[in-house]
Amino acid sequence: MTGGVNLNILVTGGAGFIGSNFLNYSVPKYPQFNFINLDKLTYAANLLNLKKIEHNSNYCFIQGDIVNYEFLSRIFEKYKPEIIIHFAAESHVDRSITGPAEFINTNIIGTFNILEACRKYWDKSDEKVFHHVSTDEVYGSLGDTGFFTEDTGYNPSSPYSASKASSDHLVRAYYRTYKLPVKITSCSNNYGPYQFPEKLIPLMILNAVESKPLPVYGKGENIRDWLYVEDHCLAIWDVIKKGKTGEAYNIGGNNEWKNIDIVNKICEVLAEEMDVDSSAFKKLITFVKDRPGHDYRYAIDSTKIMRDLGWRPKETFDTGLRKTIKWYLQNRKWVESIKTGRYQEWLKANYDKRIIL
Ligand code: NAD
Ligand code: TYD
Repeated sequence: MTGGVNLNILVTGGAGFIGSNFLNYSVPKYPQFNFINLDKLTYAANLLNLKKIEHNSNYCFIQGDIVNYEFLSRIFEKYKPEIIIHFAAESHVDRSITGPAEFINTNIIGTFNILEACRKYWDKSDEKVFHHVSTDEVYGSLGDTGFFTEDTGYNPSSPYSASKASSDHLVRAYYRTYKLPVKITSCSNNYGPYQFPEKLIPLMILNAVESKPLPVYGKGENIRDWLYVEDHCLAIWDVIKKGKTGEAYNIGGNNEWKNIDIVNKICEVLAEEMDVDSSAFKKLITFVKDRPGHDYRYAIDSTKIMRDLGWRPKETFDTGLRKTIKWYLQNRKWVESIKTGRYQEWLKANYDKRIIL
């Protein structure tokens, strides 16, 4: 990427959690680039996420499905994107367990369609980037020691991670076979504003605020490495600008937490912010039936992106978590907007059958 003006950047899934944080950061920061946000607007999307930038002249939104190749072709013909940042996905492990089909469609077929469109429309001599946003979950589960590096073999456990692994393989195959200019990033668990409250951190915050049970799977001993969403977005820019074509970069927060410890910490920070005693929240913690195939531990070795591209996370977990909690407390309109019937149906489908341990 040369830093040229008037580049057209196609962002898929830009109305979801990470995509909208990426656009809210990037659209004002890079007025010389045109951002085209293509999103199907599934349950996980919310156009309220993009209120701050919706009228910016270098931004436009198009509703559409990456599973529809004809639609994608029209987008390529009209906008001629030079850079693609591919966030669009079905992203929740529990939903992939109850209904895997959408994960196969969007994550595998959808990614394949974009790769095919690039192959058809991109002139090989031009400088282009297809940036594939992936996850550390493709590597499977770690024991108590060790870290995922870029050389760790793929060993996905859930339909979600298997579909992301499949899409990663396709992206790599298009580089090796067709020399398509791809880059891949595999990131650990993100948290921050605009995350749909089916994922651990926002679910716990909102349930606690409403005095609902805080459902911890199994014994709460599973470990995740958490990264503030904006640090992920900055890492993506580093890779787009300075990363090597055809390469993958792991991104992590070096910030491992057992689920039960994080839930307790959420209770404590929330109690401080609401000026109440944390025991009011902690007594809501309820251990429930575990997730089938639940990966025990994820931990990322971010040496490559730190050493080669100079990326460093800016946010600490203390500051990031407090910011996140404050955001959910201060954005009641957003919270109300996602509490639709569909959301209630999901809570019922996922939690009603989980017996209390
Ligand atoms: P999300 O579920 O919040 O958002 C996904 C977005 O993709 C939504 O706006 C949705 O409408 C859109 N989408 C879904 N299917 C589509 C389709 N067929 N066509 C067009 N748009 C479609 O997900 P997220 O948490 O923002 O994750 C974004 C990407 O980052 C995903 O690829 C995910 O695998 C990856 N990732 C997420 C995390 C995390 O912790 N959330 C960590 C690492 C990697
Ligand atoms: P999640 O946010 O769904 O992310 P992922 O499964 O992609 O890592 O879950 C994070 C961890 O929290 C995971 O170990 C499962 C656990 N978890 C609970 O204990 N209770 C819940 O209600 C949810 C949604 C997750």
